[in-house]
Amino acid sequence: CGIVGIVGKEPVADRLVDALKRLEYRGYDSAGVATIHEGHLARRRAEGKLVNLARKLAADPLPGNVGIAHTRWATHGAPNETNAHPHIVDGVAVVHNGIIENFSELKEGLLAEGVTFDTQTDTEVVGQLIARNLRNGMGRRQAMQAMLREITGAYALAVIFADDPSTIMAARSGPPLAIGFGDGETYLGSDAIALAPLTNEITYLVDGDWAVIGREGAFIFDHEGNQIDRPRQITQAAAYFVDKGNHRHFMEKEIHEQPEVVSHALAHYVDLGNHTVDPAATGLIDFASLRGLAISACGTAYLSGLIGKYWFERYARLPVEIDVASEFRYREIPLSADQAALFISQSGETADTLASLRYCHSAGLKIGAIVNVKESTIARESDAIFPILAGPEIGVASTKAFTCQLTVLASLAIAAGRARGTISEAEEKQLIKSLAEMPRLMNAVLNAIEPQIEALARELSRYKDVLYLGRGTSYPLAMEGALKLKEISYIHAEGYAAGELKHGPIALIDENMPVIVIAPHDRFFEKTVSNMQEVAARGGKIIFVTDEKGAAASKLPTMATITLPTVAEIVSPMIYSLPIQLLAYHTAVFMGTDVDQPRNLAKSVTVE
Ligand code: G6P
Repeated sequence: CGIVGIVGKEPVADRLVDALKRLEYRGYDSAGVATIHEGHLARRRAEGKLVNLARKLAADPLPGNVGIAHTRWATHGAPNETNAHPHIVDGVAVVHNGIIENFSELKEGLLAEGVTFDTQTDTEVVGQLIARNLRNGMGRRQAMQAMLREITGAYALAVIFADDPSTIMAARSGPPLAIGFGDGETYLGSDAIALAPLTNEITYLVDGDWAVIGREGAFIFDHEGNQIDRPRQITQAAAYFVDKGNHRHFMEKEIHEQPEVVSHALAHYVDLGNHTVDPAATGLIDFASLRGLAISACGTAYLSGLIGKYWFERYARLPVEIDVASEFRYREIPLSADQAALFISQSGETADTLASLRYCHSAGLKIGAIVNVKESTIARESDAIFPILAGPEIGVASTKAFTCQLTVLASLAIAAGRARGTISEAEEKQLIKSLAEMPRLMNAVLNAIEPQIEALARELSRYKDVLYLGRGTSYPLAMEGALKLKEISYIHAEGYAAGELKHGPIALIDENMPVIVIAPHDRFFEKTVSNMQEVAARGGKIIFVTDEKGAAASKLPTMATITLPTVAEIVSPMIYSLPIQLLAYHTAVFMGTDVDQPRNLAKSVTVE
């Protein structure tokens, strides 16, 4: 999924397709381009790869000096030509990345007003809203702004109008958008790589911005509609295949990509219109007939599996055997063919995970692989592949792969629960509705907490040891927090189950060891707070990661309280990953370590 646009002085269609080619690495399943020519919108779209679109354009060229183009990664509606972008409604053409969360409600409203829809996409709602606003007498900018006020979700948008031959409008709330400046031409792209051959002078839109782009430049507005200046920068994008955008490190970029990539993962496994799991994606394992599930993985992938265990046991009443792969492979675990096994691996190449897979294979289990690299060895040796769709992860410390793994595991656990009759249709709907809020919530959290975390990281970098505590799914997250911190900042850190505090680590508590307590206001909150009390009573310094309710409920003094929005229990591990990742990242940056390639660590470990 990528967006490009050109307000040019020469025909743009072929150049738009060239720019899309450089966004191919993001993955897509259909593509399209629309231009303005002699007061009309014209478009070509094609299913599948860009060659299909290029072939159509060769056979039937598209004139016009202003246009937008898109590679689509299906979220709502099948990846066919009808659902491919751009969508055209009454002289308005729209391309869109991300999820419009409230599209069903908006669509119902428009249907009640007598509007008819051509597609099942959430994107068409954007075009229909703008068209309705124009019919009601608004000007184009006003119609765009009014539409932006109605939609919620995480999205990037580009819009052209048949009756305005010199403008593209764009908006960003989540997925990135960059404006590029040329000689008498202006460009729009999902990242600087797409625009690299056209220009290296780039302005990144900030979340909440929208822009009116003309040949001589762009006017940028904030979400209140005030015109603002955003800095221009010279990018090195041409030199990289995968670039860092306006981020200092790949890790930072990957942290900020999460609202976008988790929406891809989610859209693959659930139907966001009906709030049900998608049987085509989740039904590759017959969960109904299983006696048990085995899960194995290494590092961060193992910790996502541990959270998955909580979900499979709770929602699907399916017993889960889980261990790190280096133990799993040698434990001689008694396994039988009425169990299935899941192997989680970003790279799909980790030697111990692969050996565990082969052990399960020889025991006759059905094998599922939750991987980022679909062509990897682990994927190839599995019966069912569950892609996490995170896109290339370059930072050695895993971030977006973790939250995408969690998204897949949550979807599979719900699917298993439905298949086994342990959750009702209504519960399924509610859980998936909660998951659908995740991209927007992640985006809001990333925007809200980073300055506070940066300041806190400065303080944390003075310490030699840090303890992380959590209960329920916050326990594996505590371990993930400790892992992230030690991997990249080299500060010693431990993650513990909050209830285990008094069985050992409490002996270490003093003013020299900050304790990071991860405690959303869930069914474990009171218990975790009493463990926190034990820390406070011994002069321990507490960093409290909680939600609005939790912050209001606890009166204990803390070194810092990081307050997140109150979220449904199933999404809390994904949302609480963000402060954990950011804290490790900023601490490492402050200490001056090699964040993307920390000492002694490798991204993919293919030896035992
Ligand atoms: C290495 C990486 C970790 C990763 C682990 C498992 O240790 O540094 O970030 O979690 O391997 O890798 P995998 O590719 O199997 O997820």
